Amino acid sequence: RFVAVIPAGGVGTRLWPLSRAAAPKFLHDLTGSGSTLIRATYDRLRPLANGRLLVVTGQAHRAAVCHQIPELDTADLVLESEPKDSGAAIGLAAAILYRRDPATIMGSFAADHVISPDTVFRAAVLEAIHTAASGERGKIVTIGIEPTHPSTGFGYIRGGEALDVAGAPSARAVAEFVEKPSLEVAEKYLASGEYLWNAGMFVAPVSLMLEHLEANQPELYAGLTEIADAWDTPARDEVTARVWPTLPKIAIDYAVAEPAAAAGDVAVVPGAFRWDDVGDFAAIGRLNSAREVDAVTVLGEGARVFTEGASGIVVSDTKRVIALIGIQDVVIVDTPDALLVTTKEHAQKVKGAVAALKASG
Ligand code: GDD
Ligand code: MG
Repeated sequence: RFVAVIPAGGVGTRLWPLSRAAAPKFLHDLTGSGSTLIRATYDRLRPLANGRLLVVTGQAHRAAVCHQIPELDTADLVLESEPKDSGAAIGLAAAILYRRDPATIMGSFAADHVISPDTVFRAAVLEAIHTAASGERGKIVTIGIEPTHPSTGFGYIRGGEALDVAGAPSARAVAEFVEKPSLEVAEKYLASGEYLWNAGMFVAPVSLMLEHLEANQPELYAGLTEIADAWDTPARDEVTARVWPTLPKIAIDYAVAEPAAAAGDVAVVPGAFRWDDVGDFAAIGRLNSAREVDAVTVLGEGARVFTEGASGIVVSDTKRVIALIGIQDVVIVDTPDALLVTTKEHAQKVKGAVAALKASG
């Protein structure tokens, strides 16, 4: 009954110039493992989902995704004509799966996170699946990560009482779900020790997902229903092309997780695995399997790197020779048409630079 869903959207501008609209983060190997992030995500989920898997991505990424996951059936590849955020992507998956089997438990997992070890991840997801299937209506189950800093880019989860679910000893009710709080609030949450980060994973009965979508986002729900009704029929492409552009753009965290938590329908299972959403280039240095040249982490096969008294990160998809001498914590990202030079400390500011570059043409 479990089907995994991989929403693969977003441009990942904080990883510019490596991650671009044409080749976003999930199409790169950011750990030096030899797998792109989306392929690693697929492989991590395959044993759980037994081959039942849906990918939702932009039309522009069709060829790349099919190349990465040749196992994927075309009926299980949802292609968006334009991004409508995670609410539409995950909501449509829920609606399609509901029509195939209303008793389905779905699990949505980002395509661009780095997770290890896979076995610990799968144990947590199994607990989440048991929890999602528990009780009369089930639960929307999130996976919680111990926060390390007052990030404003994550959802925060306050756990409530322990739930008594067979096969899920660490499952708890969620008292509150707050998406992307202000820095002031995030600092308060961190200091309280009561909050976990939402890892961006949702395991739930498709019926409960749809129930909350209908209650909180009726317009989105109506559009998704129309598309899903046509999905496994010859009318699929015509209906999708007509309805998709009209859908409201909203993240699943606002559309479902926050209101469902307020209604008491959300649970959390803590994830004891290592989790990184690769939010900027400083993250590359934390991800273990990349090549090291002295104190410099090197990602990419082509470049020959020489270092002397330097530390930091080099990411290169060129065949250039790169020499770093006497500079610390530097970040060099070398691509054929754009070069980034910054430091680990300032790596988060890449997003602003990309916006400014775009504005100035
Ligand atoms: N197909 C598709 N289309 N997927 C999308 C779209 C879209 O338009 N927009 C977002 N997604 C996918 C992303 O690829 C990712 O897998 C997931 O939906 C979440 O979207 P993000 O844009 O990455 O969200 P976020 O990082 O700001 O926040 C979410 O993830 C955090 C953890 O990384 C939230 O769930 C937070 O609560 C969470 O802490
Ligand atoms: Mg994200």
